[in-house]
Formats: sequence, C-alpha cells, structure tokens
Amino acid sequence: MDPNKPLILLTHELPQNWVGSLLDGYEVIVGNKNERGIDRGLIKYLERVSGILCLLDDPIPVEILDKSPNLKVVSNMAVGVDNIDVAACTKRGIPVGHTPGVLTEGTADLTLALLLSVCRELPQASADAREGRWSNWDPTGWLGKDLKDATVGIVGMGKIGTAVAERLVSFGARIIFTNRGQQPDKEKQLNATQVDLDELLLTSDIISLHVPLTDETHSLIDEAAFQKMKSSAILINAARGAVVNTNALIRALKEGQIRAAGLDVTNPEPLPPGHSLFDMENCLVTPHIGSATENTRRIMAEIALQNLDAGIKGLPLTHCVNPEVYD
Ligand code: DGY
Repeated sequence: MDPNKPLILLTHELPQNWVGSLLDGYEVIVGNKNERGIDRGLIKYLERVSGILCLLDDPIPVEILDKSPNLKVVSNMAVGVDNIDVAACTKRGIPVGHTPGVLTEGTADLTLALLLSVCRELPQASADAREGRWSNWDPTGWLGKDLKDATVGIVGMGKIGTAVAERLVSFGARIIFTNRGQQPDKEKQLNATQVDLDELLLTSDIISLHVPLTDETHSLIDEAAFQKMKSSAILINAARGAVVNTNALIRALKEGQIRAAGLDVTNPEPLPPGHSLFDMENCLVTPHIGSATENTRRIMAEIALQNLDAGIKGLPLTHCVNPEVYD
C-alpha cells in the first residue's frame, strides 16, 4: 500500500471497463461482494480512508463515520440514500453523493413491465402454458385488467413518478397523484389530478409508489392504507420496500383486500427463500432491478466515481444530497 496516495474503499467490486482511469492516483481496497456494508476485515482501514463508494444496501451508520476521521466523501451508487446516515455526515462536513436522473427511464420501464405483468397475469399464464394447463383458447381464461381508462395513482410525482405517468398516459390511463408540494404544471402536462393520499387510495385501480424512504414514508402503506384500497386494486412498488408494511401487505393479498402486487423492492431485502410473498400467485417479486440495464448501471458507477474523486479533491460533488456542507 502506498501511504502517499489517498485510500478509498469500494464496498463492492466494479467492472474494470466501468472504472477506466477514474481511480488512477488512488489506493483502492474492495469489499467482499457477498457482504453488505463494510466487511469486518476492512474496518482496520477506516482510520486512513479518504472516501467510501457504497451501494444502496450497504449501511453507513454513524459508527462507521466515527471510525473514519479522515473521511472526505461518501458516494452512493444509487439515487436513494436511505442506507446512509446523511445527518451525521452533514454534521461532520462530509458531502454525500448520489446518482439522480440517469436511472429515471430504466426504473420507469421496469415499473411498467411489472405493472403490465401483474395486470395481465403473465407469470401465471406463462406457467400454465409451460405446465400443460393450456388446453384450448378459453374465452374466460387469464382475464386481466385493462390499462385504458384505469385510474392509476402515482404516489410521489418526482422524476421517476413523472416518467411512469408519461408512459401510462400513452396507454390511455387516467392519472391521479400525490406529492409533497403542489404541482399544477404536472396536472397540465399529464392531464392529471393532484389529490391527497386518502383519495388516491380510495379511487385508484392501480397504485404505484415512487417516494424516497424517509421517516415520513416508512410504512406509508400500512394496514389502514390497505383497508382504503379497492379489492380489485393492484399495488406496484419500485421505490423502497419499507414504504410498505410487509405484514399488512401479506394480509391484504391473502384476504383479498387487494387483487395483486408487483414488487421490485421488499422489506426485508433480499427476501429470504421460502418467504410467504413468494408463495402467493397474486404477488410478483423481482430482485430490485429497476436500474439494471447495462448503460444505466455503467453511468451510475461513473457518476459515483466522479462524486468520489471530487469529494476527495475538495471540489463540489456534481450530485450532492447535503450541499449545506459547503455553506
Ligand atoms: C436507486 O438508485 O436508489 C435505485 O433503487 C437503484 O435501482
């Protein structure tokens, strides 16, 4: 190890052709890809570490910051930063980087894929075809839900919520949405109506979640929320698992409080094999692949590496979640 070079810690290996020359000039240690967070074996390096590049399921709590007196930047390869104690970073003057924008379209595409698969029961239909339950063209077989004229409730009209709504408009769906601030421009642009959460839950045929995970949104969709939904409603979550209360969801799916769910994110994540959500025909689970396209992931890595490099050099990060550290 060269003590003259700044030391950086990548919690997970990244392909060399994504990294390119972005790490030239640094001493790099890389975590074990099968472990989350900072591997126990790497804790001893924290004292010297100038920058950490982490993934969305690597917790960066205050205890890690306490062990890292020379830390100049935490760079998350994700837009969501709920895995990082941002307030503690801010208190120490450490900028936190993230990767907004680049994954908007990919995540919106995946949301639509999930939504359409659940609406048209594709996993069940495909399994029936493969397993010998396709005897004839059945007029009443595999009847799905139309998107045309469906009311779709978008919870959180940020970048991804908007990209999902734009796609749905072209399917002929009617959009209603919630958002923290008023968004008359979005109402106009999407011929949509901004409503409160209760109205959205009561009137939507499909509900799609696009809020970040914060104290405010943790368990936003709980038992009481499911009780308000139509029994024919479909819930789609491509945001963060903990926005939905998992036990309440299981009950809602079992007891027919809602029709079905499509989940790209879960709580816990990953969902352990044998989990009851995997046993339910009316629940489709994918392993947090919203941003999983080659281009998107490569650009996310590039942005995260650029944020890391800027932070270590004392330059403002291009995408910083706590710019108040520069005040
Ligand atoms: C993010 O970046 O927060 C997404 O969840 C990744 O898919």
